Amino acid sequence: RAAWTGVYERTFIAVKPDGVHRRLVGEIIRRFEKKGFHLVGMKLVQPSEPLLKEHYWGLRQKPFFSGLIEYMRSGPVVAMVWQGLDVVKMARRMLGETDPADSLPGTIRGDFCMEVGRNVIHGSDSVKMAQREISLWFNPDELICWENSSQPWRY
Ligand code: TYD
Repeated sequence: RAAWTGVYERTFIAVKPDGVHRRLVGEIIRRFEKKGFHLVGMKLVQPSEPLLKEHYWGLRQKPFFSGLIEYMRSGPVVAMVWQGLDVVKMARRMLGETDPADSLPGTIRGDFCMEVGRNVIHGSDSVKMAQREISLWFNPDELICWENSSQPWRY
């Protein structure tokens, strides 16, 4: 039982405007699907400035904050919620480091981008942040419940 307690963990993933513009949406979804995670929510949205400022509230004092908000507003974003065992940590590993220059080949940022300010994808950095971000970007009725599945470990 204990080994499966992380099965219902959820994380918030967003393909940023440069990722959408560069047609990376399919590739990114493919990686999460093939890994074995369940997609429980997804939408293409043009995020508002207040939403983005709330999302990146923790970075509001940083010198790159206004540029970051401007970049995130530059086009539509694909917002997603993925579920599965240890998904928050595993997704961060699949993303690579914040700076693509530090990201290993094989990771999304390592394979598809070069600059920290255009790093194509967002992923929650903790379970707590994931819960906060999911409730910020999604209404509860926009998310699918896999909890009733009798075999949640079966991918
Ligand atoms: P951060 O939350 O530190 O990284 P991550 O996205 O990996 O969780 O930063 C949020 C975003 O801010 C990051 O994805 C890209 C941007 N950013 C910059 O533009 N310049 C910087 O020096 C840093 C640290 C981040």
